[in-house]
Amino acid sequence: MTDTFVDGRGLGRIYHRGTLPVAALTGATVSVRSGDRIAVVGPSGGGKSTLLQLLGGLDAPDEGQIAWPALGPRGQLRPRQVGYVFQTPSLLESLTVLENVELPLLLTGETSEAARVRAREILAELGLAAIAEKLPAELSGGQAQRAAVARAFVGKPRLILADEPTGQLDHPTAQRLFDVLLALLSKTDTALVVATHDLAIAQRFPVKWRLAHGRLEVS
Ligand SMILES: Nc1ncnc2c1ncn2[C@@H]1O[C@H](COP(=O)(O)OP(=O)(O)OP(=O)(O)O)[C@@H](O)[C@H]1O
Ligand SMILES: [Mg+2]
Repeated sequence: MTDTFVDGRGLGRIYHRGTLPVAALTGATVSVRSGDRIAVVGPSGGGKSTLLQLLGGLDAPDEGQIAWPALGPRGQLRPRQVGYVFQTPSLLESLTVLENVELPLLLTGETSEAARVRAREILAELGLAAIAEKLPAELSGGQAQRAAVARAFVGKPRLILADEPTGQLDHPTAQRLFDVLLALLSKTDTALVVATHDLAIAQRFPVKWRLAHGRLEVS
């Protein structure tokens, strides 16, 4: 059995701003394997979100090929195989935090009882039990981000893609969140790819992908 979760070759993505083409990503060859811990760093506009969206199958490349050998076809990645934390707020406004976090489980056929138990468990692990019954509009930016992280982790997907998941947290809170997340994943083969501007967070990851002007450098 292959342990290659994502195999991307020569990936390019060109957006159009009016009639002007914008090369957001050029010639990116990447692979993500079982158990990988990867930080994606680089300046604003460098292409981090663009690359994460391709890795998660949310968007398709204009150049190159991408496949998910161990995870399945693009249309079936989320939410069972891939958990995604969006850079912009993405909780459903009419559902409570608990209901938002249960959703991936209900979509993959869990019973409502099992979904509730598991959602409460991950909320407690992330220190969010007290906000379980709140609506997104009642949350701070940092609380909403952590709830979105809980939603990505709840189903124990094999690949988690997190786009600036701590952008709205103060530094100690961000570090504590990663203490918990890395501990939760420590005995699993789940791969984690995190885009971040926080270099202290990036230091915790053994592999760094640097993106500037859409070009990738791996270290
Ligand atoms: N939907 C879009 N339409 C047009 N241009 C876009 C679109 N999304 C991104 N871009 C452009 O593509 C380039 C890469 O953007 P991207 O969001 O991937 O960068 P980023 O590294 O995630 O930046 P940040 O650190 O600010 O989140 C930028 O020049 C951006 O303006
Ligand atoms: Mg981004």
